[in-house]
Amino acid sequence: MGKFQVMDHPLIQHKLSMIRDKNCGTKEFREIVNEIATLMAFEVSRDMPLEDVDIETPEGIAHAKQISGKKVAIVPILRAGIGMVDGMLDLIPAAKVGHIGMYRDEKTLEPHEYFVKLPSDIGQRQIFVVDPMLATGGSSIMAIDALKKRGASNIKFVCLVAAPEGVKALQKAHPDVDIYTAALDEKLNDKGYIVPGLGDAGDRLFGTK
Ligand code: PRP
Ligand code: URA
Repeated sequence: MGKFQVMDHPLIQHKLSMIRDKNCGTKEFREIVNEIATLMAFEVSRDMPLEDVDIETPEGIAHAKQISGKKVAIVPILRAGIGMVDGMLDLIPAAKVGHIGMYRDEKTLEPHEYFVKLPSDIGQRQIFVVDPMLATGGSSIMAIDALKKRGASNIKFVCLVAAPEGVKALQKAHPDVDIYTAALDEKLNDKGYIVPGLGDAGDRLFGTK
């Protein structure tokens, strides 16, 4: 089973509380989502492989380290995942970005894929799939299916708020995928929204409601 980690760093928890507030406006919401994504990028990249490198400093040779091995792809699930991309890129600026378009049918809660555009060498990359919300898990499961179908194997899923139902479903469907979240909330309501959650992440990010 992959790792499941709730990131309880005080800065992440504080910022998450700010965007849960229903009075937090679009501009602030967007900025803080990116800030949290940057903080999460620090932790999710912790096990990136390092290699030895000799660096000539002004005073001599430093036997130092640099990141080696797999290159990174950040893959947001549209729309709301887009809100986390710039924040992740702040720490991993050389990453390529792929996009997977997915929407949930409001009645059935079933996910529907409508767009996939990935770096051509996706199979060789460490992939961070980002989406603020893990609710039923349908969207993330289908997005990761789409990635694996195209050769991806090294995948981590990064969200802001998760429901227990979604974590369980994602772990069952993709036991090889590590899951990182800023919060594990109580439950889903009968409309498939996370309670207490933060509402509709896409609408709050893009001001569409
Ligand atoms: C939201 C969210 C996730 C999905 C989570 O997207 O951004 O992708 O719901 O729900 P699930 O775990 O039950 O699948 P939505 O379908 O509202 O699309 P949007 O981002 O375009 O608003
Ligand atoms: N998608 C959202 O944006 N919010 C939820 O609470 C659940 C799914």
